[in-house]
Amino acid sequence: MKKSNLCFQLVACSLILGFVRAVTLELREGNSTCIKADLSASFSITYNTTNTLTTVKVDLPDSTTVDQGSSSCGSDGRPVSLVGVFGPGHTLGLSFSNNGSMYSVNMLIIQYNLSDSALFPLSNSSGVVTVMTESVGMWAWLNTTYRCVSPASIPVGGAIVTFSGVKMEAYMTQEDLSPVESVCTADQEGTTAAPTTPSPTTTPVPSPTPQDLPEQGTYAVTKGNDTCLMARMGLQLNITYTSQSKNNTVQEVVNIHPNLTTASGTCGASISTLVLDHEGNTIISFTFTLNTTSNKYHLSGLVLVANWSDMSEPVSVSNSNLAYLTSVLGRSYSCNSEQSLIITEAVSINTFRLQVQPFAVISNQFATAVECQIDQDQMLIPIVVGAALSGLVLVVLIAYLIGRKRSNAGYQTI
Ligand SMILES: *[C@@H]1O[C@H](CO)[C@@H](O)[C@H](O)[C@H]1NC(C)=O
Ligand SMILES: *[C@@H]1O[C@H](CO)[C@@H](O)[C@H](O)[C@H]1NC(C)=O
Ligand SMILES: *[C@@H]1O[C@H](CO)[C@@H](O)[C@H](O)[C@H]1NC(C)=O
Ligand SMILES: *[C@@H]1O[C@H](CO)[C@@H](O)[C@H](O)[C@H]1NC(C)=O
Ligand SMILES: *[C@@H]1O[C@H](CO)[C@@H](O)[C@H](O)[C@H]1NC(C)=O
Ligand SMILES: *[C@@H]1O[C@H](CO)[C@@H](O)[C@H](O)[C@H]1NC(C)=O
Ligand SMILES: *[C@@H]1O[C@H](CO)[C@@H](O)[C@H](O)[C@H]1NC(C)=O
Ligand SMILES: *[C@@H]1O[C@H](CO)[C@@H](O)[C@H](O)[C@H]1NC(C)=O
Ligand SMILES: *[C@@H]1O[C@H](CO)[C@@H](O)[C@H](O)[C@H]1NC(C)=O
Ligand SMILES: *[C@@H]1O[C@H](CO)[C@@H](O)[C@H](O)[C@H]1NC(C)=O
Ligand SMILES: *[C@@H]1O[C@H](CO)[C@@H](O)[C@H](O)[C@H]1NC(C)=O
Ligand SMILES: *[C@@H]1O[C@H](CO)[C@@H](O)[C@H](O)[C@H]1NC(C)=O
Repeated sequence: MKKSNLCFQLVACSLILGFVRAVTLELREGNSTCIKADLSASFSITYNTTNTLTTVKVDLPDSTTVDQGSSSCGSDGRPVSLVGVFGPGHTLGLSFSNNGSMYSVNMLIIQYNLSDSALFPLSNSSGVVTVMTESVGMWAWLNTTYRCVSPASIPVGGAIVTFSGVKMEAYMTQEDLSPVESVCTADQEGTTAAPTTPSPTTTPVPSPTPQDLPEQGTYAVTKGNDTCLMARMGLQLNITYTSQSKNNTVQEVVNIHPNLTTASGTCGASISTLVLDHEGNTIISFTFTLNTTSNKYHLSGLVLVANWSDMSEPVSVSNSNLAYLTSVLGRSYSCNSEQSLIITEAVSINTFRLQVQPFAVISNQFATAVECQIDQDQMLIPIVVGAALSGLVLVVLIAYLIGRKRSNAGYQTI
């Protein structure tokens, strides 16, 4: 029973992410287990080499062990936490809290040791980097197992952690995971999220020819049971990279297919993030920031990591100083016209038929939109033409009336 479950997870995970291993971490105190987690995790970590930024992708290895020293069941007054350690000082830490009816992961902490030259070749700094986030979005009822087979990507500092095949329980009262499960929202929507052809050889076709417009996808992030971020848009990537086969720099325009894309992310009071994973080889992260003084929000950051088969090395770019898609709290933002979101000189994202609302979504619906300037200008053209036409009609009418009056007057004088 347990074995077949694990197999199912392995199959699901390998379909979704390539072969990412499932790892079991168990924290015991005395004779009983207080936290147990079966999960797969992969890290995408960006670091500085002498003259460029480099991104490595690491899977949590099955040699990962529980760090007894920094993990705690809570009886010693420290926060309830599970810390897995692998290699020379790399860690994945989950800290939990509960309110008597539910428990959640209230902090995700990653540590990576840049001195590990096997993992971070040519890194120009050394030592352990610690990054953490409170926006994790994993919660379950007490005495139940949190289950989330679907992949979920969580940005943490300069890293992105993608969990999948998660079965986990904290504050355990039994020896093993509770058979009662709290299923994450991503697993509830349509049972299989597995893309049809997960082969890493599906290269985007190089396209000097004009591209079709990208299909409009609908993406959402949930918090508890509620949608907290909504986006509807067609996306097209414009990437310049070094092609392995051509041994040269190429520029490619590639459409994002909503069918082959999974959405995840987090919602906070002033920062919300939408992370899209396309075919397991492209990750795009959108960060929206709300200014709580002015009650305006905007797209402030974009991260794109792409590892396509023809790339001589993965492309990893980010920009956290953007001011795109500005709107007002309580309203959405829309732009039907094409817009180009520039991350760097070499990478931009074209959006089509876009509507987003990263904050204050009520009952799964977009609020009234603030429209982009281009759309407003385009609306203006028919209005101006219309106004000009009615003006013309008016002039003709007046001329006609005056003419008629004159001729009437003419008759009277006779
Ligand atoms: C652990 O189990 C052993 C034998 O089952 C029992 O004697 C011992 O009291 C238990 N210890 C705790 C802390 O429960
Ligand atoms: C790379 O170095 C620059 C300049 O020192 C720094 O601003 C940036 O945060 C570093 N990036 C990473 C991922 O360490
Ligand atoms: C590391 O490289 C970045 C540029 O990639 C540079 O800005 C930074 O100063 C370097 N840091 C050290 C400690 O050499
Ligand atoms: C990129 O993908 C290839 C295989 O498709 C893999 O071997 C390599 O490790 C990946 N690189 C990164 C940084 O993820
Ligand atoms: C980081 O890695 C280096 C080289 O592998 C090792 O000497 C050092 O002890 C590691 N640091 C920690 C905190 O584990
Ligand atoms: C515990 O938290 C959940 C989710 O935030 C909430 O729905 C529930 O009412 C809370 N329960 C108590 C007893 O505070
Ligand atoms: C969880 O189970 C334990 C032991 O069976 C019980 O004492 C506790 O009240 C349960 N908690 C909840 C929230 O159901
Ligand atoms: C989420 O939905 C489930 C099932 O519809 C319900 O039992 C639960 O109370 C809801 N949780 C919250 C936090 O609203
Ligand atoms: C792609 O980007 C290049 C330069 O960054 C630009 O010249 C080109 O027009 C862009 N193509 C599309 C379809 O956006
Ligand atoms: C790629 O191009 C460089 C110079 O442009 C050349 O030195 C190198 O041999 C080429 N590599 C291959 C595999 O063709
Ligand atoms: C996406 O799915 C829809 C219906 O499931 C299908 O009609 C469409 O062709 C698919 N698009 C792609 C790009 O696979
Ligand atoms: C928020 O808006 C106020 C008023 O427009 C402005 O003064 C302030 O600098 C903004 N804060 C940030 C962090 O941008």
